[in-house]
Amino acid sequence: MANHVVGMPQDPAAAKRAGVQNGPVSPVQAGLVNHFASSRGTAFVPTLHQYIHDVIDGKRFFDPHATDAMLMRVLLAIGEIQTYWCEEKRSEAISLLKDLRGMLVDLGEFDFCDKRIRSFFEDSIRSLETDAAADTVDRVAGDNEELSKPVRCIPTMVSAVTLRYYKWLARTLEHPGDIVDLGSWMGASSACLAEGLSENVRRKDRKIHAYDSFIWRDWMRTYTEDPELLAANIRDGDSFLDYFHRYTACFRHLIEAHRSVLRTATEQSPLPALEWSGGPIAILVMDFDHERAANEAMWRVFSPSFQDGSTIVIFNQYGNVPAGEVRDFCRNKTGELVPLHKPRSSAKAFRYRHIA
Ligand SMILES: C[S@@+](CC[C@H](N)C(=O)[O-])C[C@H]1O[C@@H](n2cnc3c(N)ncnc32)[C@H](O)[C@@H]1O
Repeated sequence: MANHVVGMPQDPAAAKRAGVQNGPVSPVQAGLVNHFASSRGTAFVPTLHQYIHDVIDGKRFFDPHATDAMLMRVLLAIGEIQTYWCEEKRSEAISLLKDLRGMLVDLGEFDFCDKRIRSFFEDSIRSLETDAAADTVDRVAGDNEELSKPVRCIPTMVSAVTLRYYKWLARTLEHPGDIVDLGSWMGASSACLAEGLSENVRRKDRKIHAYDSFIWRDWMRTYTEDPELLAANIRDGDSFLDYFHRYTACFRHLIEAHRSVLRTATEQSPLPALEWSGGPIAILVMDFDHERAANEAMWRVFSPSFQDGSTIVIFNQYGNVPAGEVRDFCRNKTGELVPLHKPRSSAKAFRYRHIA
């Protein structure tokens, strides 16, 4: 996979609860996510806790201009950026931009120089300046949707808010065409779409096409709470397609699994290259990867089958801190991708428009 794991989230469940981050992340990203998302926090908690007591008791002096204070501010600013991309409230962009510009000035005056951190803030400022988030976008779609217990029990990397949104989307779908789920993993996203579709009176003979390489990677274990799956001890590189079939069994009549790989310059595999039959697409969920190459490859394969004014394209990783290339991709397609729904999670949905 292009988006390779360098480490593991310390608490993916906490990140999911906060509606952020799925898939492989580096230890630093994982720490940030937990910092933002978890009330339990990270391994820093005991040290910081003791440190605060020592400062209050006068045993230590806290210098607000020292390196540790600066790094704490960096973390908090990244947390603010994460919140912004999850909620995308345009009205909050101005004050965030002000904070981030101030942060850059402070970093410039600071002895500790880290180009990676600096360029992360510069990129964030650039994308905030050009973000066209519309405050008119629907933010509550799917909020009241209920998922059945069997569906809630499927291991997933996706937040509950997004899964409810998927169900709502398929339940209320009116336009013609099939549903494509890119990166179905154990099948939670596909099952939510299927549960919605099964309650849709206009479902006709639509299908959900679930695409994945179904190749197990060790980092996936962190997202697994099912004791049976944990006990199975699937090895890195093995197929987990059987588990997908097992978890989605009650929707077998609605879901078609495709074991294939979306090819990019870096994504090579002996598995067949992902293909699409050419039939009209009503909904497409993109959850393979946050890299530009994967999104461009997805567009090449599927966009010829998008329907002008009706196809809904969802980028599940849109709001994650490392997903700048997804946001750039959507921005470059302004006109073709018209913002539609912004659930309170990393996902963002667009309506496709054909540009001649
Ligand atoms: C973030 S997970 C999807 C989570 C899932 N939607 C859920 O409900 O939990 C990404 C999935 O995409 C698959 N994947 C990533 N890149 C791929 C590619 N280029 N071709 C095929 N599958 C890919 C991985 O095997 C993984 O199962």
